[in-house]
Amino acid sequence: MKENKPIGVFDSGIGGLTVVKELRRILKNENILYLGDTARLPYGTKSEKVIMRYAMEDTEFLLSRDVKLIIVACHTASSVALPKLQEIFQVPIVGVVRPGAKTAAKLTKNKKIGVIGTPLTIKAGAYERELKRLIPDAEIIAKPTPMFVPIVEEGWIDHPVTDMVISEYLTPLKEEGIDTLLLGCTHYPLLEEKIGNFMGKGISLVNPSFETALEVKNLLERLNLRRKEGEGSIKIYLTDLSPNFSTIGSAFLGEPLNNVMKTTLRGWE
Ligand code: DGL
Repeated sequence: MKENKPIGVFDSGIGGLTVVKELRRILKNENILYLGDTARLPYGTKSEKVIMRYAMEDTEFLLSRDVKLIIVACHTASSVALPKLQEIFQVPIVGVVRPGAKTAAKLTKNKKIGVIGTPLTIKAGAYERELKRLIPDAEIIAKPTPMFVPIVEEGWIDHPVTDMVISEYLTPLKEEGIDTLLLGCTHYPLLEEKIGNFMGKGISLVNPSFETALEVKNLLERLNLRRKEGEGSIKIYLTDLSPNFSTIGSAFLGEPLNNVMKTTLRGWE
């Protein structure tokens, strides 16, 4: 039966687990097939053309595993490749930009919204476009904050270097008087507590993962594709086995990650 097929999720690395965490919370029966393109991480510092190709290959891989829906959990890939993927492939494909912008637009009061992400996400401007569509007179202050990615991949969540980098990147946003900060990269919610402490109580942080999972739930229900029985599982494919993945991943998800395998993508290697 079609509803028993897994949901495919892809990201450049570990960060997409922030979306998986929300999926596990609100869609407990679903089987999740996760692809982390660890061999080619980071995506956020590469060109649009290259990320377009990577996103196509990631999608093709998940489709070859017969998924019923795909989540582009990577903000960089969502920002540059989502419309093209939706145009080319038949399966429903959900990105993270629209759900993230929707949440930020709901939360802001002074209409000053900060967006942080990888250099390519910020350059692509997808968040700005989406936020402006929702609040035409919003003031968007967008800033690339690429070093947060290796910090998370390294597991330096509680490290003095992390505090320094947060302060260096985020002081200007704080000084601009934003009241909402959109975490426009899969990895950043892993630093949410630290970033929140630095920004202070008056600034709402937006983690687009929750709204994305909600959008997926609604879509599955609308398409009659929601799995309603049985315990869901997580299967993880990585293009390179990273020693930190299972340790950081299972601590973050709060469940063991036993099913982690190495794979190669078609058309590559
Ligand atoms: N997954 C990427 C994103 O959400 C961040 C890591 C990378 O640069 O590959 O934009």
